[in-house]
Amino acid sequence: MLSVDDATANAQMIAEVVRDQTMPPWYASKNHGVFQNDASLTRKELQTLLRWVETGCLAGDVAAGKPIPGNAVADSEIQF
Ligand code: HEM
Repeated sequence: MLSVDDATANAQMIAEVVRDQTMPPWYASKNHGVFQNDASLTRKELQTLLRWVETGCLAGDVAAGKPIPGNAVADSEIQF
């Protein structure tokens, strides 16, 4: 997923998987301390993402965004 259009087209699916915490995957129990590589979204990150979907997936300032890394397009295609 490399563009605002990609993200917008998948917004409802993104909201679902982050809301039910399927994504990002993190299988360690939170009952046993804090892990440095915990990939979970913070409450604030989760709220920001869900608010973006609920308010219509506005693009923001696309020109101010970071360029897509050179090999990202090729790497994002699943090869069979
Ligand atoms: C319906 C949409 C999505 C599907 C079907 C999906 C599917 C998957 C699958 C099958 C994996 C591998 C799981 C594993 O290794 O146990 C994965 C990994 C991952 N996903 Fe998703 N995902 C979705 C959306 C998202 C979203 C919205 C995020 C971010 C908020 C996300 C972040 C990640 C991350 C960080 C990983 C781990 C990558 C790694 O450590 O190599 N995914 N996803």
